[in-house]
Amino acid sequence: MFTDKVEAKDFAKMDPEYQDLLRRIITIQSDCEIGGPHLYVEKMLPNAPTKLDQLLVARTAAEEVDHYRKFARLAGDIGVDVSFVLSQPNQKRYVEAFRGTITTWEDFAVFGFLIDRIGRYQLEEFIGCTYAPIEPLLPDIINEELGHIDYGATQTTELLTKGDESREKVQKAIDTWYIKGLDMFGRSESRRSERYCHWGIKRRTNAQARDAYMKEVEPLIKGMGLKVPDPLKGRKYL
Ligand SMILES: [Fe+2]
Ligand SMILES: [Fe+2]
Repeated sequence: MFTDKVEAKDFAKMDPEYQDLLRRIITIQSDCEIGGPHLYVEKMLPNAPTKLDQLLVARTAAEEVDHYRKFARLAGDIGVDVSFVLSQPNQKRYVEAFRGTITTWEDFAVFGFLIDRIGRYQLEEFIGCTYAPIEPLLPDIINEELGHIDYGATQTTELLTKGDESREKVQKAIDTWYIKGLDMFGRSESRRSERYCHWGIKRRTNAQARDAYMKEVEPLIKGMGLKVPDPLKGRKYL
């Protein structure tokens, strides 16, 4: 297990596997950061229920673009140009959850509640990362993700007070995003996931992170009076 701290200037001296894995994870993180706004800004910014919500959709999107910027700079420092993710179509996103569009407030709210939370998990993987330049970026980004999660949870709860039809739509959104979310952690039997841990780039394996997420989220869904979807039904990556 590798535990040294690597600075940007020493990156090129690292084992090729380390270089490949770091380039890959920073590219994916950049893609996910910009992937959120591309899902919801077009329809949800003009259609948010109140002017305050419009402001918060815009602010959330602005924060994601800033997260993208920070990771794009990290990528540039190790010789990777990730600017292609700014303009690529949603269907080409690395992570399946970012490949569609969000057109309802229920989906937008639940996306914040469940998927921004996975954003937080992905960022928390980098705490103590052997690539030293990542860590100083994390506190601000994670703090902003906590804001997105909280806003999504609040909006989800609010929708649940609006009658049976609204409740059903929220449950449907939970059914969709919970499963997409669990898939975002990747396969449990993943050699690459073990190599990330071996090199100290990530803290946990895919399976460990997914289990922690499920333990955190299940009581929250139940606490809202909603059903926790069968975690195996409709999954693409087990
Ligand atoms: Fe983000
Ligand atoms: Fe976010």
